[in-house]
Amino acid sequence: MSLPEKGRGAEELLAEIARLRQDDLPVRGGKVTAYVYDTGRPEVHEAAAAAYFEMLEVNTLDPTAFPSVVEMEKQVVGAVAELLGGGCGIFTSGGTESIMLAVKAARDSRRVPGRPRMAVPVTAHPAFHKAAHYLGVEVDPVEVDPVTFRASPEAAEAAITKDTVLVVASAPSYPQGVVDPVAELAGIAAARGVPCHVDACVGGWLLPWLREAGARIPPFDLSVPGVTSLSCDLHKFGYSPKGASVVLFADPALRRRAYFASASWPGYTVINATVQSSKSAGPLGGAWATLHALGREGYLELGRATLAAARRLREGLAAIPGLRVLGDPESALVAFGSDELDVFVLSDEARKRGWFLQPQLSYAGIPANIHVTVTGVTLRGVEAMLEVIAESARAARERGPARLPEGLVELVAGLDLDALDDAAFAELAASVGVDLGGSGQPEMAVVNAVLDALPASKREEILIRFLSVIYS
Ligand SMILES: Cc1ncc(COP(=O)(O)O)c(C=O)c1O
Repeated sequence: MSLPEKGRGAEELLAEIARLRQDDLPVRGGKVTAYVYDTGRPEVHEAAAAAYFEMLEVNTLDPTAFPSVVEMEKQVVGAVAELLGGGCGIFTSGGTESIMLAVKAARDSRRVPGRPRMAVPVTAHPAFHKAAHYLGVEVDPVEVDPVTFRASPEAAEAAITKDTVLVVASAPSYPQGVVDPVAELAGIAAARGVPCHVDACVGGWLLPWLREAGARIPPFDLSVPGVTSLSCDLHKFGYSPKGASVVLFADPALRRRAYFASASWPGYTVINATVQSSKSAGPLGGAWATLHALGREGYLELGRATLAAARRLREGLAAIPGLRVLGDPESALVAFGSDELDVFVLSDEARKRGWFLQPQLSYAGIPANIHVTVTGVTLRGVEAMLEVIAESARAARERGPARLPEGLVELVAGLDLDALDDAAFAELAASVGVDLGGSGQPEMAVVNAVLDALPASKREEILIRFLSVIYS
């Protein structure tokens, strides 16, 4: 775009946004089983949007200039702490930022002789790898049980060294929706004097309601001895607009290690609780309003519906020939795989039928599979979802596995990406039938099959190049 010579009216701009969004996945209705969290109650999302808008131009940079931010944040963090075992916290922009701050706090609270390290289950979210990358921390991977997909306490114990600053557990891990043995992992960490972070980004505002609705949920929060910090995203099962998470610390001294201040310049004094400095208070307003609009009763009702839908989905999947649920998830995140058909083709088939089912690549001995995040709205459409999965499975069986051009995987594996510019990479992709400039509903099975056949480091190189191409 070039900047328009004259300003344009809001109506025209909104029409253009509607056009830009025409190929987007729908954010409501439950046919998109990742990325979006729908209560099925428009009035709740409308209240959040209005509050978001009201706080939009407030800058959280200086809490003394905008005391509303302090009051709202204390209320939101207080509600999270009340549900999840106490402590004090920080409102952040999302799971990644919460995790980043937890890793920074752990790193800065524990002086170690060598380069700081953390023990991270292989199923933990890549936000830990990102935090490690940004903060100069090394990751020691902790294997998971090949049947339950829960982190192995023995492996975690073996991974701890004199330089370990943090042990990580997930409640639950995203890929299979299972809760790691938090009490054991935290106990092991505590015995070695190491902090333990529970990543409850996806589960923190879900598991307590599922428990109250009758699910068996093991202890996982800050009340568990040895747990020193916990992340809980309100923009997931809190159903808040995006940009809302809380990181809790058991001890205010640890929270202070997450903060940053700088007086080393001649401008205004900088005090930041988060990675970002200037930022809109909109997400805070949206989260605050969502919590108030739903209340305990609302979340419990959504928890009941979510639990019923997750149970029905697991049961229905088990009855579809060729499919099997991975592990025994306590949460509402369900992954299913197959030894008989190509799950990437199944996912494309579902997309043709108007449903987005998220493909997950194989990793660390865990097979490729499809991930479904069940939310409050899923129950209304769970039978339709099962029908689509069954139909898509039949179609995938008929089509057979994604056919890769001969030698493609070897070609990609051997590519020296540094020798290719973005245009040459896009051309190469097009020559094997992958249109990187395309929109709409792309067939992804071939791309996923190629990525699946590559080691993680090569996948990462390709993904970075892909991003560079789509933004060029
Ligand atoms: C368990 C877990 N941790 C962390 C994150 C990262 O959250 P965000 O995308 O808000 O940064 C996610 C996102 O799905 C998650 O599921």
